Formats: sequence, structure tokens, C-alpha cells
Amino acid sequence: MKYGYFDDRNREYVITQPDTPLPWMNYLGCQAYFGIISNTAGGYSFYRDARLRRISRYRYNQVPFDVGGRYIYLRDDETNEFWSPSWQPTQSDILEYTCRHGMGYTTIGSSYKGIEAHTRYFVPLDENLEIWQLTVTNHRSTRAALKGFASIEFCLWDAQDDATNFQRNFNTGQVEVEDGVIYHKTEYRERRNHFAYFGCSAPSRFDTQREAFLGRYRGWDKPKSVEAGELTNSIAHGWSPIGAHQVSIDLEPNETAQFVFVLGYHENPVEKKFDPPGSQIINKRTVKPVIAKYLSPAGADAAFEKLRQYWETTLGILQVQTPDAHTNRMVNIWNAYQCMATFNMSRSASFYESGIGRGLGFRDSNQDLLGFVHMVPSRARERILDLAATQLPTGGAYHQYQPLTKRGNNDIGGGFNDDPHWLIIGVSAYLKETGDWSILDEPVQYDNEPGSEKPLYEHLQRSFNYTLERLGPHGLPLIGRADWNDCLNLNCFSDTPGQSFQTTTNKDGKVAESVFIAALFVYAGRELAAIAQHRGLEAEAKKYIGETEKQLAVINEHGWDGEWFLRAYDDFGAKIGSNECAEGKVFIESNGFCALAGIGLEDGKALKAMNAMRDHLATPHGIVVQQPAYSKYYLQLGEISSYPPGYKENAGIFCHVNPWVMIGETRLGRGDAAHDYYTRINPSARENISELHRCEPYVYAQMIAGKDAPTFGEAKNSWLTGTAAWNYYAITQWILGIRTSLSGLEIAPVIPKNWPGFTAKRVFRGVTYSITIQRKGPGNSISLTVDGQPIDGNIVPIPTDGRKEVNVVGILT
Ligand code: BGC
Ligand code: NOJ
Repeated sequence: MKYGYFDDRNREYVITQPDTPLPWMNYLGCQAYFGIISNTAGGYSFYRDARLRRISRYRYNQVPFDVGGRYIYLRDDETNEFWSPSWQPTQSDILEYTCRHGMGYTTIGSSYKGIEAHTRYFVPLDENLEIWQLTVTNHRSTRAALKGFASIEFCLWDAQDDATNFQRNFNTGQVEVEDGVIYHKTEYRERRNHFAYFGCSAPSRFDTQREAFLGRYRGWDKPKSVEAGELTNSIAHGWSPIGAHQVSIDLEPNETAQFVFVLGYHENPVEKKFDPPGSQIINKRTVKPVIAKYLSPAGADAAFEKLRQYWETTLGILQVQTPDAHTNRMVNIWNAYQCMATFNMSRSASFYESGIGRGLGFRDSNQDLLGFVHMVPSRARERILDLAATQLPTGGAYHQYQPLTKRGNNDIGGGFNDDPHWLIIGVSAYLKETGDWSILDEPVQYDNEPGSEKPLYEHLQRSFNYTLERLGPHGLPLIGRADWNDCLNLNCFSDTPGQSFQTTTNKDGKVAESVFIAALFVYAGRELAAIAQHRGLEAEAKKYIGETEKQLAVINEHGWDGEWFLRAYDDFGAKIGSNECAEGKVFIESNGFCALAGIGLEDGKALKAMNAMRDHLATPHGIVVQQPAYSKYYLQLGEISSYPPGYKENAGIFCHVNPWVMIGETRLGRGDAAHDYYTRINPSARENISELHRCEPYVYAQMIAGKDAPTFGEAKNSWLTGTAAWNYYAITQWILGIRTSLSGLEIAPVIPKNWPGFTAKRVFRGVTYSITIQRKGPGNSISLTVDGQPIDGNIVPIPTDGRKEVNVVGILT
């Protein structure tokens, strides 16, 4: 069953039924001011950091699931009836409900008794505010006398404190109302120099105290002052400051009116906080022109047009036309868009990440670059330098850092022994995309310590050496707290409820080894060698290759189980992911990453490993993490065995790692298998089973319940997942084979046999490549013609004569 449809022309998903299985959400903002918004207008906003600068309040895991948001109410003064055009929170019997989630905006509307109303929500580029444009049309044959109300509940900035510290927070709330604009200024009197505001294009009455607006013991579904038809002009002193505006809407038959509301965040220089100086009144000199600009419908429309253009250009960097509509839609629109969100949010704020927990992950953010770097390389560069500056002098890394301070997060610390290698992979992706070698010479601190600056290149060297200095009894890399799989905690041995599996270390960790990190080391080592080679550092490149060769030999000797690659050795030196094991005999991560890295291509191991994935782990809904699932808690394995079978890392379908197998299949030349795996988890291809899948059909979820789970096929934790970048990378660079390399754009498609070909447009290093691939035979050998001239090999040279348009034709035989 479907709850809507894709409108690819407008790059929208159109939801036509409000009670979707879960809130289906979208992000507003892509720079510094962000919001999350559900299909019924639930959600909240924040500036840069979802924990420390939360602008509006949201209660997670609420009943019903999604309450608290950007709610608009309409009221008919003749009948005294009121309703929400977004269905929530009043849940009235509206007709023609539609929610259009688009690129950086969401429009929600419906009609009720002849009154049609839509609200378009978006964040203009380069501004710290969001616009709500409400359009109301009277389709009745008689005049309509209506009122409109728009409301938001302010958060007292630190979302964690806001949700817990009531003895203080019920006293601190403060607002000002000036010229019809509501200013939320809690703590502005002391150490904050920022405030929020909520303005309206036609203000009449307002409320700023929640209880005055809602009434005692009432929720957002029936606010007392909306019911009464008149806001009370309340001023909040403590308790819960809100912003609510009232507008009058008098419409002749067929008449339309538009109202604009602006919710925003503003900072003043500390010495200019108050106006007049010495008073306690917010200095509004710099914010007033901004508010005025966007409260005008023309200003709002122009900002929307700019946003549309921005996405047109950004997505225009890669557009493909293949025989598969799901591939096209995800590559051209939604997967790229999701990559922007994961880059911006890491794993901080969604409907499943509360915005108070995680900062930016070192591993996560580096991987996110794979799907983002082509869109805004300058921001990728900045992110790389921020990440590298949190690296420790040992080459190890803090697992996370806080976006506002950009400092490593001490609560979680480091010791996840895969982390450092992702920096090499992130930097390599950046170099391949941009050719900007200067980044390697950027001086970057260690652990944000002034004076510790070393060129970024040295950070990569330390990343590589980190593993060499931490090898275990078999010569494989020690796993530390965990590798990619946060839940394979081999040094944890936790028997105390509530202890964090990620930060508890009860063993000194000199035994447990990871075959996955071994593969990662080989892959990253080769990338680093190629970088060294390109810089003319021959001897160094040789050294890296030498070390990866040694590690390959170790993998062959101690990392192979006969039919597939082992996963790890535990703290007792026992195998994990071996046919000898009672449970957890075969795992996806080590096999996927070995094949992706090309390990075992020559001697048939990769082929066997991929066949093992097909025979033991693949399901119609995707490839599970391992089999058999762990049926009980194993002290020596940690969190992985804490999950019931089929969920999360315990044999769930982790959509993040499925692309490793897809890429592995392309390395074997099996395009049909690669694309088949791609399709199994492609959200668009799963749209028809929305009733089962339950998450949004336009973005990936982290996990789909595996075959051991009673809810097999049900997705969870949508939006913020490494799945976005890896699937984008797998389909664009390995299946379609439009691959960035240090020396240019490589064209190496491994597509299904029955595809006659495809076309693509790729903007790469300032040049637009129009690519046509034609299948003339069933294989993957390609011959390329560039602007009519055949070339050797499959790397399209970067034009040296200033040409900006290049035509590439590739014949597959
Ligand atoms: C989750 C992992 C996550 C980890 C770190 C675990 O509970 O299952 O997916 O990476 O927590 O927060
Ligand atoms: C989610 C984490 O964000 C990611 O870093 C990790 O690799 C996966 N979970 C698997 O545990």
C-alpha cells in the first residue's frame, strides 16, 4: 500500500494520507539554521547544534507519536469551528490533504468546508530563519469570515536541560513583543547574546504564555483561545513561552489571501545586546530589516526561488537516465538530498535521534563525504579540517565531536580502532573530486591544541601508523572498543545494566582482533599510497604498499574461513564469523569490505565470499548483518547480542553495509547481482510495501528488520545513516561506474546485462561531461570515445585547452 506518490518533475514526494505509518519527515535548511518537519507539521528548529541552540520545543516519543510543531489553525467565525489544515493537531475531517516534501521545503494543506489552505515552510539560503507562507482560498459561494492562528512553543535553548531542569526553567522564561513581533529572550539578560523571534505579516493579537493559549489541561488539539476565537495578548513570565499570532481572514467567494510568518534566530555582539544601552531591552536594529524583508510575500517568494535554483544547480552536478525509474529518482533527487542531510546533521537530529545525544561522528562524517563532496566541495574541505583537528596525537580519534565547539567529545572518548582510516578515505574522496592538493599542506592541530599544528598529510600518516602500532596475536588489527560495528564490543564484558557498551572497557584489549579493520587498513593504505605516489613520494608509497601486502598475507592466513572471510577474534582468541561458531557463523562487514577492497579477487576468495553473502545472508528485503542471529546475550560479544534476533546489528539488514556487497559484486563483474541488491533496499522500489516498510519511501533508513525478526521487512531509523552516502557511492561510482579518481573521471560501468545502456551528465572539476553508455555485448569491457576520438584506458583526461563541455561515449562489450 502507498500513502502518496513521487512527483519527480517537481522533485517532491506527495503524501496524500496524513496518518502515515510513522511521521514522514523532511529537513528545512542546509547551512546553519535547520528544522525537521513531519508530514503533519510536527517537528522543531535549531541553530547549528540541535542540543545547545534548540529554538522550538519538541517532545520525543510522545503520544500520539508526533506532537509539537509549526501548527496553524483556522477558525470559522460563523460556526465557531476550528481545524488544522495540516491535520495535526486537531485531526479534523479535512479533505484533499496533501503534503509535498521537496528540496528544502515542505508544503502542507487541505480543504475544509470549502476553505482551502496550504502552508509552505522553508529556510531561505544564507539566513537564520524559516518562513511559513499560508495561502487561504474561499471556494464557497458566500463570503467567509475566518481567523487564522500560527503557533510555536519555544525551547529554552539547551534541549537537554529544557527537558529536565524544571525547578529552574519554570522561572526563567522571558519575552518581548514589539511591533507585532514576538521575541523570545530567555537567558538573554545574562550570558546569552542570542534570541529567537516569531513575526507575522498581519499581526493583530498574540499570546506568549502557553497556558493562556492552550488553557488548563488542554493540548495543542484544542487550544482554548483558538476555540474562543481570540488570543489574549499574554506576556510570558517564566513557565513556557510560546509564540502565537492571530490574523483576520475575510474572503469573498474565490478570493485568496496570503500571510507570512517568520520564525528566526539572531545574535547580537555582546557589547550591543541592549537598546538603549544599560536597559534590558533587546537591541533589534540589525534584526528588524531582516524580519521586514521576509514578512513581505514578495521577499518570501524571491527567497523560495533562490532556494529552488540552489537545488537545481546542486543536483545538476550529477544527473542520470537509466532504464530503471527507481535508480533515476534516487540518484537524481532523493539520495543526493539525503546525503546533504547526513552531512549537515551527522547522526544528531531526526525523529529517531533526539538531537541531544550524538555530536558529529568521526567515522560517520568521513563516510558521509563520499556522497556529499561533489555537491559543495568547500564545505567538505572545512569538515575534513575540523575532523582532523580532533584527531589525537596517537593517530587515534575522538569518536565524536560537538558541532558548536568543534572539540572532541570526552564522554565518549576514542579507541574505536577503525576511526582513523576513515579520515584517509574522506580526504582521498575530496582529492579525487576536486584535485585540490593544497589541502594536504593545511596545518591542522591535534586534539585542538594550539601549537600542535602539522600538515593534514601527516594526520593521514598517523592514521595509517595507528593500526601498525596496534596489531594483535595473529597480526590482525586490534579492535579496541569496536570497529564499524559499534555493537561488536569485544573488550567490554559488561554485566551491569545500563552500562554503555561503547564506553565501558573491562579488558585491556590486547587480544581481540578485527578482520574488518584489516580490510579497511588495506583499502585505506592503498589510497594513501596512491596519494603519496601522486605527490612524488615514491619510497613512501612503496612502504605503504609493503605494509598492505603484509596485512594481506595475514588476512589470507588468519582471516579466511574456507568459504568466507572471518569477522574477528574475541578476547579469548576464539573465532567470530566462522563455520565453527554455533551462532554468528558468517558476517557481512569483513566479506563486503574485503571484496570492495579487491581482496581475494585473484585467488577466488572474493567470489566465494560474495557467493556466501548470497547463500547465507541475502533476503528479499536486503542483506542481513550475520547468520545465525545470536539467540542470547554473550558477555564476550557485547551489544550485538543485546538485540533480539533480526534487529539492528544482531542480524538486522543494516542498509549501510549492503553497498559494500554491491561494490564487491561489481568488482567481480556481476552487474545483475549488484543492481539487484541495490533494488532490494532502494526506498523508492519499496514504496508499494509502505505498509510493511513504514518509513519514508524517499529516503533510506538505517535498518530493515532481518529474517529472524517477527517484523521482517520493517524499516527503522530513517534519514541519518551512512546508508545514504554508501548507496549513492555504490550506484553512481561502481554500478553506473562514473568514478572520480586522482587523475580524472573514470568510466567503468558494471550494469545489468539487460540494460541497453544509460546516459549521464556529470560536472567534474568545472567541466560538464555528457556521457552515453551503450551496451553492444554482455560484458563490462569498455571502449571510450571522447569528443569523437577514441582514447586508451577508461580515464577521461581533463581538458587542457579550456573546454568546458566534453562528450563521452562508452561502448560496453
Ligand atoms: C546502536 C548503534 C550505534 C551505537 C552508538 C548502538 O546502540 O545500535 O547503531 O552506532 O549505539 O550510539
Ligand atoms: C551507527 C553508527 O552511527 C555507525 O558509525 C556505525 O558504524 C553503525 N551504527 C553500525 O554499528
